Amino acid sequence: MREVTTGHALRAWLRARRAEGRQVGFVPTMGALHEGHLHLVDEARRRADVTVASIFVNPLQFGAGEDLVRYPRPLERDRLLASGRGVDALFLPDVGEMYPPGAATRVVPGPAADRWEGAARPGHFAGVLTVVAKLFHIVQPDVACFGQKDWQQAALVRQMVRDLDFSLEVVVVPTVREPDGLAMSSRNAYLDATDRAAAGSIPAALRALVARYRAGETDPAALVAAARAVLDVRPEVAAEYIAVVDPGTLEPVAPARDDAVAVLAARVGPTRLIDNVILGQGIG
Ligand code: PAF
Repeated sequence: MREVTTGHALRAWLRARRAEGRQVGFVPTMGALHEGHLHLVDEARRRADVTVASIFVNPLQFGAGEDLVRYPRPLERDRLLASGRGVDALFLPDVGEMYPPGAATRVVPGPAADRWEGAARPGHFAGVLTVVAKLFHIVQPDVACFGQKDWQQAALVRQMVRDLDFSLEVVVVPTVREPDGLAMSSRNAYLDATDRAAAGSIPAALRALVARYRAGETDPAALVAAARAVLDVRPEVAAEYIAVVDPGTLEPVAPARDDAVAVLAARVGPTRLIDNVILGQGIG
């Protein structure tokens, strides 16, 4: 696996690959890789000839008081995992490479950024879309893979690709889960044993919501109540939002329908976790 720290060097290497007629798959990450990221790599490799992954903890998408400084950065482990899974080039820019002095332009997300994660984390999605747009310009992938766990992020990236005429396919890969159903996330590392056990109630809440939907309930308020009832018995877990939304606009929908997505954010002790489920699919 090749490691590259500058956009200039990565572009040069990719230019040569494209000249050989190869298609490029891309997996942007902030590192602390887990099986969820590695599934994105698998998908990129299935769909393209050359796979590029990036690791960049993007300061622009962290708010004041968030976990930018303590975000896990196990670089040596990440290198081994990425190369073991078949990443061809690992892009490791530093902050100065991505945001040289004077860099001031931002991507303004559409209205789907105003709710849920966007409301809880002002400026977050402008930061995400700005770095993703820059990475897309550097890598110029044919296909880019994002995880379903960050549904709102994936929806906004899709919209940016459409609205700003990026020429690539965005693929959303199903969430990879721990045996108790907890969605894999780099932030799970923050959970102590008690909170980790309690976090299993998040997928359980989404399962309860889907079970109620499958039983014929289409009133979003009743579906959300079914999920809340599961979380409410765990004192360590405080729901921030649970809603049944349109998959593209992220606006609440009523009645609930198969393609609607139940989105959820909760604090488990000091750790904030998100998850979601497509009603017609459920959690496997
Ligand atoms: O999902 C993430 O890890 C980040 O938001 C991303 C897409 C790599 C942008 O920094």
